[in-house]
Amino acid sequence: MINASHPLPPQGRGAGGVGDPRHIVIIPGDGIGQEVVPAVVAVLRRLLPDARIVAAEAGFGAYERHGTPLPDATLAACRGADAILFGAVTTPPDIPNYRSPILQLRQALDLAANLRPVRSLPIPASRPGVDLLIVRENTEGMYSGIEEVSDDGERATTLRVITGAASRRVAHTAFRLARERRGRCTIVHKANVLRQTDGLFRRAARAVAVEYPEVMVDELLVDTAALRLAQAPEMFDVLVTTNLFGDILSDLAAAHTGGLGVAASANVGISIGLFEPVHGSAPDIAGRGIANPTATFLAAVLLLRHLGAHDAAARLERATEATLASGLRTPDLGGTATTADVCAAISAAL
Ligand code: IPM
Ligand code: MG
Repeated sequence: MINASHPLPPQGRGAGGVGDPRHIVIIPGDGIGQEVVPAVVAVLRRLLPDARIVAAEAGFGAYERHGTPLPDATLAACRGADAILFGAVTTPPDIPNYRSPILQLRQALDLAANLRPVRSLPIPASRPGVDLLIVRENTEGMYSGIEEVSDDGERATTLRVITGAASRRVAHTAFRLARERRGRCTIVHKANVLRQTDGLFRRAARAVAVEYPEVMVDELLVDTAALRLAQAPEMFDVLVTTNLFGDILSDLAAAHTGGLGVAASANVGISIGLFEPVHGSAPDIAGRGIANPTATFLAAVLLLRHLGAHDAAARLERATEATLASGLRTPDLGGTATTADVCAAISAAL
């Protein structure tokens, strides 16, 4: 646990510095994760020829092979990494006590904040003028994992845990990022109903806001925030919110810029960063070679920035956007291109 009053360090691993060999763990996972990750890894190897890049297993496939979705070896590898690239995992609903490995990793590695940028892209499916960032608390709330069901199966409870420490931590991250962006941050909560939990989250965020006088801070109830995000996403800069609200709002916001096929996210803690597409393993299209690899390429852009490889990040971002602009698009974006087509085009555009 870090000192809660201490803001997270600026993005990037301060100690290493550009030029040091970086250690990256790759977790392709299940379903389309297996289809989109390899091409992204090939590009990472080109951009960071000195990096140590190793693969690790997690997900339902790992469960079938090892009896656990997150083998100890994977967790150990992640703990020693500078950055992790995570594909996607399938979570079967009916295996008792099965807990999604991504949720386990977020908690075990103390990845306090989930950063979900939503920015206009050069595709018809994208609305222009959108450039917002959802900062989602990433370790507690409705994702505490503390659940119970009565013996007769007729009453179930989930414990929504909110702590001042985690709330302050994610608020520091959000305000610091807002300061580097357009200087606005909206605290999103439901403190009119969840009086204790969101009351605490709201108070904690407000208290931290005082330390960022340059940031204009306002707040919205989550239902109003959803409406405004749907109607006028241009009006937002940074939003900071609790775990489940951030999960829902980030899918909603992604709809403005092309959907989950192009949405990437960064899970950041003290020094390790885990980067992943917002989408899941998509069993409905897995194995058909039509998954959109864009979100995973954009996750790699965030990973490169975290490692301080800013030129490489900019190159990969330009190559990915140029490929989208060229009209080569997978079916989710209304095109007929395959995963391999898009990966080849991005690689060529580098
Ligand atoms: C996300 C996903 C995960 C979440 C799932 C896969 C557990 O929806 O990253 O948004 O709910 O956090
Ligand atoms: Mg989600």
